[in-house]
Order: sequence, then structure tokens, then C-alpha cells
Amino acid sequence: MGTARRAVAPRRIVVPRDAFNACYLPWLDTRQARQVFFGGAGSGKSVFLAGRAVLDALTGRNTLVVRRVARTLRGSCYNEVRKAAQRLGVLRHFRESRTEMSFTCRHNGAQILFLGLDDVEKIKSLTPRSGPLTDIWMEEATECRYHDLKQLEKRLRGRSRHKKRLTMSFNPVSRGHWLYREYFAGWQEGARLYKDDDLLIVRTTHRDNRFLSDDDRRAYEAERDPYYHRVYTLGEWGELSGQVFCGWHAEDLSGLAARADQLRIGLDFGFSQDPAAAVRLHLDRKRGRVYVLDELYLRGLSNARLAERLRVFAGDHPIVCDSAEPKSIAELRSLGLRALAAQKGPDSLRHGIRFLQGLEIIVDRRCTHTMAELQSYRWRQDASGGCLPIPEGDDHLIDAMRYALEQDSRRQRAQAL
Ligand SMILES: Nc1ncnc2c1ncn2[C@@H]1O[C@H](COP(=O)(O)OP(=O)(O)O)[C@@H](O)[C@H]1O
Ligand SMILES: [Mg+2]
Repeated sequence: MGTARRAVAPRRIVVPRDAFNACYLPWLDTRQARQVFFGGAGSGKSVFLAGRAVLDALTGRNTLVVRRVARTLRGSCYNEVRKAAQRLGVLRHFRESRTEMSFTCRHNGAQILFLGLDDVEKIKSLTPRSGPLTDIWMEEATECRYHDLKQLEKRLRGRSRHKKRLTMSFNPVSRGHWLYREYFAGWQEGARLYKDDDLLIVRTTHRDNRFLSDDDRRAYEAERDPYYHRVYTLGEWGELSGQVFCGWHAEDLSGLAARADQLRIGLDFGFSQDPAAAVRLHLDRKRGRVYVLDELYLRGLSNARLAERLRVFAGDHPIVCDSAEPKSIAELRSLGLRALAAQKGPDSLRHGIRFLQGLEIIVDRRCTHTMAELQSYRWRQDASGGCLPIPEGDDHLIDAMRYALEQDSRRQRAQAL
């Protein structure tokens, strides 16, 4: 077989090279078992890998495209693959099934399939119609867990005359991420390429993507937040050594909200400058996970108006509040809410943060303020660039989270003693 692309009946298919960004052309046929395409936003990673999967199918390779959440696939990877086949002028060589979410090559039966990692049953059972699975493309791999990677690696075991490949694409959100640990031991800061027999790492940025408009380009360059500039404009690993919470990610939790039974509600008071901030959490103690199902982030509300909002937000559940405002707590109670004062006590900030750090935090995508706080909450840096154990940044919702989980955190500490 070698690396030549197999001719496909009825005649050889010719695809235009200029349908690809030049920086990716060398990697159309590259055979490392592990391949990483990472870097800035808009750098053409997804479009390239979709196009490559299409060409691969024409040569008989079967690709499984995975993302963390099945629902996101149709709007992203599936459309991207379809567009790529169109752009390359080969869509007519495929049978497409939107319901099954598959593309099947009319000539050799090879398939491109799509899978959400939340679809546990399917992970084990999904197999191409003809021949083995040869490729997995993990899109937005930073959303995925290390455990997912291990599952997928299992799927690629087994003999085949095709060399098998696991390819990942993502933005380098944090050096604390398992992807960094797993693949970047030999990576030089600022490099564009790492290559050995088994591993390929390619870093690209929007500057490598000649298909962007000038407006797109300007928008990327104009990013002023240093973290976002580094990760999404320059495509360099995010420096989050000072970040307090690394183990969190966002998901759509609307499905969970109705089922959640371990609810915890916390409230941090505020009025004008500082908002009143509340969270509704679901704690999965066994798995060590906390889900941020919903948030309130309100300015300028009287306690009476706040109580109205909280009634809907918390229902009959107790609301653990900042104890610094006993008068407000009393007022909420007189308005019929089960408002409790957090006990705080010595070191409660430190203990609360440690307890949260020990959990995997999953935030509903609509909780934008919570995400912003988790993202920007950092340890204070000392003059030498090291970190002091003093957290800085907006922490209204983070405080609400600590209050909400205070009892759980205490219980855990009591057990640990
Ligand atoms: N080969 C290509 N042909 C046409 N347009 C492209 C190509 N590569 C990238 N683009 C354009 O650039 C945009 C960003 O590319 P994308 O692959 O989504 O970037 P990334 O995945 O790196 O964030 C795409 O939405 C598309 O408009
Ligand atoms: Mg992409």
C-alpha cells in the first residue's frame, strides 16, 4: 500500500491542492499513530481535519469523529465534513445519512462516523460497515477527559493493513490540562512542529489561515485579555499556574437540571458595586463532581425583590448565605425563605477553596458569570512570579459556591481527621 492514495473507481479523483491551507499540506498523508493539531482560534484546524477525513475515506480509511457531547456534533463536525466534501468536489462520491450521521464512500464502503462521548453505549458498539476503524479524530479535545482518551485508544487496537491514527485538535487552554502532560514532554515553547515516528504535533494560528477576512484577522489581533490573546491569538499554552481552579469545564446541563437531587444553594449578598450572587449546585459525591446548574447575578435589588427571585431559583431548598449580613438573612427569612447563615470560622476560605479544588467542576454553559469568575480567579503573585496563597479576582459566585458546599466540606474534613 505505501502512502499513495488508492485510486477510486471509476477513475482517479483529483482534488485541488489550493483547497487546503499550505501549512497543513505536509500532514495530509502523515502516519504517526498520535497526532496533535493545536493552536489559535480560526487557524483552519477543523476545516483541514474534516477535509483529510474525506480524502482518507476515498482511500478506504474509516474515521470516527468524536466530541465530548453528541448534540454538538451535527452543528460542527458533521457540517464541516459535508462542506469539505463539497469544497473538494467529491460529495457525489458519498452517500450521506443525516439521521445516522454518517458519510459512506460509494466506491469502497469506507465511512466517516460521528460520536459523542456522552453516548457510552455507542462508544463500544459503533463500527464501520466495512473494514476496521483506522482513524479517530477527537475535536475540541480539551473538552474530553483523560478517561475518554483511554477508551478511544482501546477502540483502535487490533490488526489492520492501514496504520491507525488518533488525531486531536484543540486550543491550548491550560498547561494544567492532561493533554499537555500526555503529549508535550518534548515540546519547545514557541515551536511550530514536533515530529517523531509515533507523535506529530503541529501548532498553527489564524495567521496560517489564508481564508480569513481582514476583519477576522483584526479581531484576533485586537484581543486585549492577555490570557485569551495567548491561547486564541498566538496559540500558545495558557499560563494558568496562578489559576485557582483548573479542573472545570462547561457543558450543557439542561438535561441534568430536572434530575438533580443533591441540590445545594449558596448566596453572596451584594447591592450596587458588588452583585448579589447565587448558585444552584448538584453534588455528585461519589464521583467527586459538582455541577453548577444555574446562577443569579443581580445588581440593585432590594431584599424583597431578591427574595422573589430566590423563591423561583431555590424552591424549598435551604439557601446558605454570607453570614456577614445577618440583617439581610433575617429579612429573607421573614419573607418565607429558608435562609441560613454560613458558619465560616477560621480558615473557611482556604478550606472551602481546597474542597472545591478537589472536585471536578462542571458549569452549565449559560452560567457565564460563574465561568468568568472561575477563569480569572488567581493566586496573588509575589515579586519573583511565584504564587502566594491569597486568591484574587471577582469571587461573588465562587463565594456562593463555597457557602453552598460548606456542610459537605465540613463533613469531609471531619472524616479526614
Ligand atoms: N481550507 C479552507 N478552505 C476554505 N475556508 C477555510 C479553510 N480553512 C479554514 N477556512 C475558513 O477559516 C475558518 C476557521 O477555520 P477553522 O478550521 O474553523 O479553524 P480552527 O478549527 O483552527 O478554529 C473556517 O470557518 C473557514 O471559514
Ligand atoms: Mg476548530
